[in-house]
Amino acid sequence: MKETFRILFVDEVDSTNEYLKRVPFEEALFVVADRQTKGKGRRGKNWISEKGKGLYLSGMFSLPPLSYRSLASLSFAVATVSVVKKYISRAYLKWPNDVYVDGRKLCGILVEVLKDRLIVGVGVNVSYSRDELSHLEVPATSLLAEGVSVDRKVLAEELAERIVLYKEKLYVGRFDVSEFEQFCPMVGKTVKIIDGKKSPLARVLGIDREGALIVEFDDEGGRRVGRIFSADVSVRIL
Ligand code: BTN
Repeated sequence: MKETFRILFVDEVDSTNEYLKRVPFEEALFVVADRQTKGKGRRGKNWISEKGKGLYLSGMFSLPPLSYRSLASLSFAVATVSVVKKYISRAYLKWPNDVYVDGRKLCGILVEVLKDRLIVGVGVNVSYSRDELSHLEVPATSLLAEGVSVDRKVLAEELAERIVLYKEKLYVGRFDVSEFEQFCPMVGKTVKIIDGKKSPLARVLGIDREGALIVEFDDEGGRRVGRIFSADVSVRIL
């Protein structure tokens, strides 16, 4: 059965995630803005949101069962990368939920869980030039900079449809972390864990059933295995 959704297209909002916090609950309502005046990234960062240059989309759903809640980011990341891969086959995921192309970030995802709803926000750099993205903290790219021209409305519909599909999988316990791992070339790689002042190096062993990154630190006293939760830290692939 094809799941239904509704997309509202608006000119300008502060943030599409914030917009969905203010309106009455409606299952699978999406909002897409041409521009955001206060686009939000993860961990209190801003998200570049110039008019017409990106896709700024958020969707709202009822709350997932508690046992699957920690996998929400990962499942929506798989939904997003599977759409992006239609246009750029070498796109991949960086844990917990960024879409990258050749070491540059193309999409970011911000999942927020409130009392009565879950909101998933996806930002895709559509037509920024590399120059316009050069001031950002992490190297970034856009679909256009990778030679791909896509209609934002078409992309919004494809993303909304795929997000609804993965929401269904997640809520009935059918989302498997191995799907994420399939798109994430981090396993076996060395990463820098950026956690406040410390930034130790570690080797990625995998992702566990709760969505945490399992890493092995090479401490002075020997090897130590740790679980990293997405809210805590940022991870840089070396
Ligand atoms: C990140 O990588 O830090 C997450 C970025 C999420 C950006 C999107 S754009 C649509 C939605 N509205 C927001 O304010 N943020 C998300």
